Amino acid sequence: MTRLPLQRHAPAKVNLSLHVTGRRPDGYHALDSLVVFCGVGDHLTARPDETLSLAVDGPFAHALDGDTGDTGAGGDGDNLVLRAARRLAERTGVSKGARLTLSKHLPVAAGIGGGSADAAAALQLLCDLWDVALPPADLEALALDLGADVPVCLRGRPTWVSGVGEVLRPAPALPEAWLVLVNPGRPLSTPAVFKARRGPFSEPVAPDSRLAEPVADAPALAQALDQRANDLTAAAMTLCPAIGPMLEALTGRDGCLLARMSGSGPTCFGLFEHGHDAQAAARQISQNHPGWWSAAGPLI
Ligand code: C5P
Repeated sequence: MTRLPLQRHAPAKVNLSLHVTGRRPDGYHALDSLVVFCGVGDHLTARPDETLSLAVDGPFAHALDGDTGDTGAGGDGDNLVLRAARRLAERTGVSKGARLTLSKHLPVAAGIGGGSADAAAALQLLCDLWDVALPPADLEALALDLGADVPVCLRGRPTWVSGVGEVLRPAPALPEAWLVLVNPGRPLSTPAVFKARRGPFSEPVAPDSRLAEPVADAPALAQALDQRANDLTAAAMTLCPAIGPMLEALTGRDGCLLARMSGSGPTCFGLFEHGHDAQAAARQISQNHPGWWSAAGPLI
């Protein structure tokens, strides 16, 4: 018998590299990105119910205040979890509800896919709770409709992402490593960062020049990533000057092999080989900068 409530972690998504390779006529950008997941994240539970509802708790619940009501144009509020649930119900013809509880541990509008990971977790939990299934390609199409990062969050493992987020190729096995995430405590709008981007696009990366072989260890991963960048960093810095000091704070910690911004920012990450260095760095950064959020977790 299924144990209730059903529950799932929604891990932070981190772009170890992110190249912007073009812009489509509809305004979306073509990307080439190595996406991984980190053992720091939100948590979602689902119980059977006649209607659909969402309660939010946890340290960042306040950031979603007013976001969970039944007020959107489609009658589903702005919250991506509710939107995901309604789309899945429509698509599968289910007329059941669910009582969802989201523990929000990740900062919002942060470049680490919190909302996307929550939506992906909701799709997976509700498929189980409602005992419905969609072919994987249909579930990914539904996910893409919710947001460019939702399909890769459904996979939840290291993936090369291209197109606008819909072309997913498994990345090679990555070594054990730790990530330290740092956020300045203020949101940053993804469309605003893409709009502020200047200069030429990166060349599309040939699939065979991506990391293709399993990577031996964390220093080798940092070395491989050194050839790459996050093309949105300069644009994000113009809107959020704290990104420079956050990168410096990470680079200065013992054991930090690489520091870079994730997604459209403002969250930055440091790559570490050892958990004890990563945890010490997160602790020290939180102490030195009480207004910042910092957390350490393993690469998953
Ligand atoms: O799909 P999502 O809602 O996450 O995207 C938010 C915004 O980010 C889009 O409206 C678009 O302005 C920008 N974006 C983009 N190219 C992508 C992904 C997002 O321009 N590949």
